[in-house]
Amino acid sequence: MNPVKATKENIQKAAEIIKNGGTVAFPTETVYGLGADGLNPTAVAKIFEIKKRPTFNPLILHIDDKTKLNSICEINDVRIIKLTEAFWPGPLTLVLPKKSIVPEIVTADNPTVAVRIPKNKIAIELIKLSGCPVAAPSANLFNRLSPTKASHVYNQLGDAVDMILDGGDTEVGVESTIIEITGNNVFLLRPGGITKEQIEELLNCKIEVKQRTTDPNSPGQLPFHYSPRTPLKFLNEVDLVELRDKKIGAIFLKEQTLDFKFAQMVILSSKGNLREAAANMFSALHRLDGNNLDIILVEPIPETGLGLAMMDRLKKAAANFI
Ligand code: TXA
Ligand code: MG
Repeated sequence: MNPVKATKENIQKAAEIIKNGGTVAFPTETVYGLGADGLNPTAVAKIFEIKKRPTFNPLILHIDDKTKLNSICEINDVRIIKLTEAFWPGPLTLVLPKKSIVPEIVTADNPTVAVRIPKNKIAIELIKLSGCPVAAPSANLFNRLSPTKASHVYNQLGDAVDMILDGGDTEVGVESTIIEITGNNVFLLRPGGITKEQIEELLNCKIEVKQRTTDPNSPGQLPFHYSPRTPLKFLNEVDLVELRDKKIGAIFLKEQTLDFKFAQMVILSSKGNLREAAANMFSALHRLDGNNLDIILVEPIPETGLGLAMMDRLKKAAANFI
């Protein structure tokens, strides 16, 4: 079904679909999610089927209120409270010891569950009306670009989803930051919308980056992922002279003065603002990917603040084409 506007009435219908074991794509502040009742294993299985994920990869449970956290996981560390107070609702996912009510299919049999409260009114209303935690990965096919518009979802998933709620462009544009706290250590499992620096400042400690690059249960942490179909490379790793006969799409962080005629060029943020650039990144990739280009070249972005999450996604996209 084509995306429908996220009116009160349609959100109500979407909640009924979720209650009845169906699937709904909905906006969050990061990217669009493909949601189902997180406590209903059959409904959750549909998510894997629709995304064509080859293995079960653990999903994030989305809740609408901090008081619900206690029903799905153990809160065994004061740092968890600090993080939720500072960054929820918002693009931060916490990996916490799960309670038995959470089905194995959600966590891919891990003893932990990933949870967040999204900062998007449509998402919150949908979760509230559904009356359950909503399991939702990004609403894209396995290994493809994450959606930041309802049309991105429809182009990839089409009629396989029971309803696509259109809430316009997502605000942050990259997925949530994933944090795991084990003993004394705080691990960054995926950089995202809340920066590593923000978390380090709040907790007053250094965060270790955990790379589980060989674990097929966590594609978000594999070195390749999030890919357009058009080959993507970094601008500093190619010889533009050799590529002069190719149809090149180029993505730059900010206005630039390079003397080269690209078939298409996108500036993510004219002043190089990382927040604006992150919000535009996936959309730029989708647009260029749909234009029959030979190659997409991307200017590397400084890996500080949101630049870390952006480069994480871009490096994974480029790793498909080495
Ligand atoms: O911004 C977001 O987080 C979006 C929106 C829809 O909320 N969701 C999203 O979900 O990006 P997904 O499934 O595309 O990515 C979730 C990541 C995966 O890499 C998964 O491996 C990791 O979270 N994850 C989930 N549960 C985990 C767990 N128990 N332990 C470690 N990693 C986990
Ligand atoms: Mg994803």
